[in-house]
Amino acid sequence: MSVVSLRNEGDVAVITVDNPPVNALKHEVRAGLLDAFKKAGADANVKAIVLNCAGRTFIAGADITEFGKPPKEPGLSEVIATIENVQKPTVAAIHGTALGGGLETALGCHFRVAVATAKVGLPEIKLGILPGAGGTQRLPRLAGMEKAFPMIISGDPISAKDALAHGIVDEIIDGDLLAGAIAFAKKKVAEGAKLVRVRDREEKIADLKANPDKFNDIIAANSKKNRGEEAPVVTTEVLRGAITKSFDEGLKGEREGFMKLVVGDQSKAKRHYFFAEREAAKVPDMSKDVKPKTVKKAGVIGAGTMGGGITMNFANAGIPVTIVEMTEEALNRGLGIIRKNYENTMRRGGISQADLDKRMSLIKGSTDFNDLSDADLVIEAVFEEMPIKKEVFAKLEKVTRPDTILATNTSYLNVDEIAATTGRVPNVLGMHFFSPANVMKLLEIVRGKNTSDEALATAIDVARKINKVPTIVGVCHGFVGNRMLKARGIEAESLLLEGALPQEVDAATTGFGFPMGPFAMSDLAGLDIGWRIRKAMGQKSEIFDSLCELGRYGQKTGSGVYRYEGGSRTPIPDEVTEQIIVNASKNAGIKRRPISQQEIGERLIFSMINEGARILEEGIAMRPSDIDVVYVNGYGWPVWQGGPMFYADLVGLPYIVEKLEGYAKESGNEHLQPAALLKRLAAEGRGFSSLGVSPIKKAA
Ligand code: 3HC
Ligand code: NAI
Repeated sequence: MSVVSLRNEGDVAVITVDNPPVNALKHEVRAGLLDAFKKAGADANVKAIVLNCAGRTFIAGADITEFGKPPKEPGLSEVIATIENVQKPTVAAIHGTALGGGLETALGCHFRVAVATAKVGLPEIKLGILPGAGGTQRLPRLAGMEKAFPMIISGDPISAKDALAHGIVDEIIDGDLLAGAIAFAKKKVAEGAKLVRVRDREEKIADLKANPDKFNDIIAANSKKNRGEEAPVVTTEVLRGAITKSFDEGLKGEREGFMKLVVGDQSKAKRHYFFAEREAAKVPDMSKDVKPKTVKKAGVIGAGTMGGGITMNFANAGIPVTIVEMTEEALNRGLGIIRKNYENTMRRGGISQADLDKRMSLIKGSTDFNDLSDADLVIEAVFEEMPIKKEVFAKLEKVTRPDTILATNTSYLNVDEIAATTGRVPNVLGMHFFSPANVMKLLEIVRGKNTSDEALATAIDVARKINKVPTIVGVCHGFVGNRMLKARGIEAESLLLEGALPQEVDAATTGFGFPMGPFAMSDLAGLDIGWRIRKAMGQKSEIFDSLCELGRYGQKTGSGVYRYEGGSRTPIPDEVTEQIIVNASKNAGIKRRPISQQEIGERLIFSMINEGARILEEGIAMRPSDIDVVYVNGYGWPVWQGGPMFYADLVGLPYIVEKLEGYAKESGNEHLQPAALLKRLAAEGRGFSSLGVSPIKKAA
């Protein structure tokens, strides 16, 4: 069957795109649209044309898999120019999402109607590119630059209601969309409505055209910290063209900007990430017949930092949740923090009082484990100590139904060992959230050696329902994210001892695009956490123990690695710290030396890549791209750098091996010795992306 069909309903032609799953504009769709609009435009029996889509959504944009391949005629711009020049009313009928090239196609029509649940947007920036089929020139003309600029720079879609308010949509259709669109088209014919192409609408940008300097105010109002990302810079200038150039000249600027960005590494990285995130939740060794269980009621143990955030996720998704604490006091403190969080969100306009009340009403606090008897899933978030976790799981087994799925939020502990304390090992797994748990998107789902497919499928399903990005990992100390972070931490500390200062290490990290360096990060989290763990394990770190002994726990005490003045969060390098570091080097018998930003950056990044390679070797992650998903979503790895394993391929594995070997020799750090997998791939001239997928190791 053809992906684009044309039929006449009376004197209205209906052109339907049917290219599942999201009606992306692959070559056949573009060719089909061109042909159909030409035919309907020339058909004397046709008075108006409606463009709609079959399936779950309107056109969701260009086909991303075609990027980077030789272009095939017709291009989307040609298709839209043809639609735009049709001399009878053209109406796009939007349901689901009209995104990117999809919205641009709709902007080629004279009118747009939508169902109330529809969303429209130009998300190209999220793929490291810009709208390349007229979006940067048409949307400002239709909606005004004040609306178009933030939409294009953020890439976030807007609701149909918002679109209506800004003239992007002309009417919201209640009831059947196609019937409503046809009626709308007929009305326009009957009215003899004047047909103005979007490109010719100048009234909303007239003021800016007369006062182009005002464009800088719009930039300022929407400014975002930009750490080396190209697309926002290029897009801003292309958008400026909409008010400083003719439409055709602006379009030319858009084409140049698009072509420049689409071949760049940043766009490749973002496209890689788009697919990586969708792949990460797919489990190749799980039968398609496995159905997730529906979680109608959830339970959470512990109302501390993590338990509170995890609880909010369920309430936000409308799932009733019971949170169990040891004492009334701890419970009330936890519930109080949840309420305060919601109140803050309400103050910022994120939710209404009714939303707050509804969410709080879904949360039930208790100090009695028996209140979990009807939970379908319970997530434990108590102290990170194995004996306590074991005790909690033993209790959970007694009070919950035998089919209840039990999850631990442990950061490091062995999920199989926790599972073994219960008589229902297949129903136990890890669900590792990230702090703040109500905000961070990442969820590492830890598949134990004997976790059942049903439990795994349920965890993946529930993750999506509570708006998380699930990634499946295996059991090891720290799983994927924290294990790799530890490798970086060892290197960061070693660099201090060898001659670097914290601000130099942090600068190399933020220079790469991370929002924060490792030391600013530890000041934020609190140095006392690591200190407590080291003491419990009989370990020492001269630099960090000395800071803690001085009461320098980080931001919360006004000083840690850095100094913080007047309640500010800005880290100020401090001589006290420098002296401690210099002494530590001396005590370790190390002669300090200047260390370049390049060396610092490479040692931090390559040590993580090396650990990632070991994680793949051991079957702790299924795919290199899963590791990228963990790092982008959970640890602030800049998405335009694709994630550690994608970045490694970009740099080239032979270079990384050579550098790691050199750094290992110079520093004496054994963990810098390149992993066997890394060496093998480098020797074979392959990258991580050639590895494909291999299931997490399970029990034989
Ligand atoms: N091209 C190719 N494949 C796409 C695609 C696209 N634009 N959009 C989605 N897909 C694929 C996904 O990879 C996924 O494949 P899979 O089932 O094999 O994993 C499948 O379609 C379904 O996608 P989702 O799982 O994401 O489905 P959802 O229902 O959750 O979301 C969506 C639907 C909101 C449309 C979401 O897929 C999305 O945001 N897509 C990308 C939209 C986009 O970025 N459009 C702009 C493209 S660039 C462009 O148009 C350039 C132009 O200016 C010239
Ligand atoms: P926390 O100390 O803030 O909270 C733990 C809570 O558990 C306390 O309120 C305590 O009263 C309660 N608790 C202890 N024993 C209990 C029991 N037997 N029954 C009921 N409640 C009990 O700790 P946090 O930070 O929330 O950590 C919890 C778990 O989450 C740990 O395993 C930790 O490793 C993990 N984690 C922590 C992250 C973080 O950034 N804080 C991130 C990801 C995981």
